[in-house]
Amino acid sequence: MPDFVGAVDQGTTSTRFMVFDHGGNEVGRHQLEHEQILPQAGWVEHNPVEIWERTASVIRTAMNNLNISASDLAALGITNQRETTVVWDKRTGRPYYNAIVWQDTRTDRIASALDRDERGQTIRQKAGLPPATYFSGGKIQWILENVDGVRQAAEEGNAIFGNTDSWLIWNLTGGAHVTDVTNASRTMLMNLETLDWDDELLGFFNIPRSMLPEIRPSSDPNGYGELDANGPLRGAVPLTGDLGDQQAATVGQVCFSPGEAKNTYGTGNFLLLNTGTELVRSENGLLTTVCYQFGDQPATYALEGSIAVTGSAVQWLRDQLGIISGASQSESLARQVDDNGGVYFVPAFSGLFAPYWRSDARGAIVGLSRYNTNAHLARATLESICYQSRDVAEAMEQDSGVTLDVLKVDGGVTANSLCMQLQADILGVPVSRPVVAETTALGAAYAAGLATGFWKNTDELRENWNESERWQPSWDEDRRSEGYAKWRKAVERTLDWVD
Ligand code: G3P
Repeated sequence: MPDFVGAVDQGTTSTRFMVFDHGGNEVGRHQLEHEQILPQAGWVEHNPVEIWERTASVIRTAMNNLNISASDLAALGITNQRETTVVWDKRTGRPYYNAIVWQDTRTDRIASALDRDERGQTIRQKAGLPPATYFSGGKIQWILENVDGVRQAAEEGNAIFGNTDSWLIWNLTGGAHVTDVTNASRTMLMNLETLDWDDELLGFFNIPRSMLPEIRPSSDPNGYGELDANGPLRGAVPLTGDLGDQQAATVGQVCFSPGEAKNTYGTGNFLLLNTGTELVRSENGLLTTVCYQFGDQPATYALEGSIAVTGSAVQWLRDQLGIISGASQSESLARQVDDNGGVYFVPAFSGLFAPYWRSDARGAIVGLSRYNTNAHLARATLESICYQSRDVAEAMEQDSGVTLDVLKVDGGVTANSLCMQLQADILGVPVSRPVVAETTALGAAYAAGLATGFWKNTDELRENWNESERWQPSWDEDRRSEGYAKWRKAVERTLDWVD
């Protein structure tokens, strides 16, 4: 029996390959960033060929550094930035256009037209999503309508669509066109009850069904296709795990029971609550999404609060304002002051996602006085991450009736201890981070390894989870509710900004 499982994590800013042992411990990794292409305000693209080349490269380098080969891997899993849309020619494997990234807002007219009539309600009901620029359906429609020759190629069955999971699987296998239920649940095209593409939804976007990949479980003993022997692993490994990165993190955090939740802090934040096999429809601005499907078991669903800008607000302090030189400095700068000095920052750079879904919002810094310094702004930025998470946690409690008694966290920003303390203070519940903070790649490895018997069941995975740090709330209730009321007032100021 091989000793390890490998996982590709194809994220928004970088791609990594990680290798885990049976205890869920990291054995090694390699990671490469890719270019963020910003052709005009609101547009965000990636080059799919660059993403594939970087993926092949991180796999090769990690395997070389560890001095292991394909025969040392019991399974391979893939996890990916969700919604980001690639359309390519199945005859040549060449993309027709850059990948349109989840953050891209060029499809706002498509989304708002759908929301103006009863089609919006149908999308909410069938797909569990509000019509928004965030999801893949409008992005595919935009490519069909704006890139020369794609409509005809699609009608002839040659132009095909995938999120970056499908794109990588296609390249790794030399032509399998598949995705999993979690990725498919982010397109506005899949019916959450049948777990199949829905002709009425496809009609709203005028997308031919032949463009779409086959939808498969997130952990599939049948595998998604044979690995190309000339590919980066240079050998056969069962490719048996595929799921969107936020769902993968939920699996990596072993949230396998209804009522268990995790919050991932990356470029954005994504709070997912496992609701079991029950499909809970949100009345408070959350998404209903597939959490995972293991083999032939029924799908498990989740409620999700997606926040577009959290870690990327810290990057903005570094790249656009130049008030810090690196992400870790946001903590030392913010620690120079005891509170936010009255400053609230709402980083509504791409409008506001959950629970507001307001594409007309734009960012605002409010409450400034002459007394304020860069340190207050740094603190307000960290607080904005935590207040946005409180917004979605409140919506989640209202929708599900589940009160969080602890918040499991992961992702890059959790290295910022002040931010995690503020999260406990603002939420009023303890915050807990596991030893393995790379829960996204770990979740993809778990999905893959469950399918091949490397791990027997989810109970075995639960045993791998260990806490490394816990932050306890320290604010009194008055301070917590005053701060939150001010935050809500600041959010109001950002709305109705774009006509
Ligand atoms: O829905 C978008 C999400 O999947 C992106 O995650 O970590 O790649 O920024 P990340």
